[in-house]
Amino acid sequence: MRIIMSQSKEEAIKVVADMILERVQSHPTSVIGLATGKTMEPVYQTLVAESKKNRVDYSKAFFFMLDEYLGLPLDHPSSFKVYIQTHLMHPLDLKPSQFAFPPVHAESPAEAGAHYEQSLKESGGVDLQILGIGTNGHIGFNEPGSLKTSRTRLVHLTRETIAANKSEFKHGSFPETALSMGIGTILDSRSVVLLATGKSKADAIKFLLNHHDVADCPATYLKDHPHFTLVLDPEAASKINLKI
Ligand code: F6R
Repeated sequence: MRIIMSQSKEEAIKVVADMILERVQSHPTSVIGLATGKTMEPVYQTLVAESKKNRVDYSKAFFFMLDEYLGLPLDHPSSFKVYIQTHLMHPLDLKPSQFAFPPVHAESPAEAGAHYEQSLKESGGVDLQILGIGTNGHIGFNEPGSLKTSRTRLVHLTRETIAANKSEFKHGSFPETALSMGIGTILDSRSVVLLATGKSKADAIKFLLNHHDVADCPATYLKDHPHFTLVLDPEAASKINLKI
């Protein structure tokens, strides 16, 4: 595991935006896995600005979304699909055909999960997976208790996750289930970057750094990945007390 301790939130955001940009510049056909959420909004804002400045060509890149709520009408304003259209696809003029979304409108969630796994396989796999972290240590929507071998599947959101995301959900009631890449799916990525910013993530980061393979904090599963980078701002790193 590589840890990048940034001097400010802005620096942490820039580090992650640069990783995506540099990956696509050096390998234009890259397959990138994308997270959503409040942490990622400024990352995409920076990525869009820097990509325009550097005239980065994204036309051969492909993106897999990490997760999506179940049970929402198509193009619901709080869906992760609309999120990524708003923050990345439209500002960079990317084509819808360059994105894969968990097929939440498939007949059965089991088939939807298997279908997404098949699409990931056919793409050649994710080169760079970007992740945030929940205050309870979830990655994607792999809540505490998720298995290390889990694949894309229907997941039930915890009360903590629903409370943390409720403010983002202005239209209708908050969904209690989602389709999420599994831990095993995420670990198959060739490299993984997790960004944590803000005080609310400090406990999860402290736990992550002091523990290994603990189902109660799924992010701990990432530590065995050979190319895992953790990017922290000073607030997220504020409770680190490594037991070395
Ligand atoms: C989002 C996702 C989640 C978020 C996490 C942190 O696609 O999979 O794991 O990364 O819940 O959310 P924020 O950044 O809103 O604190």
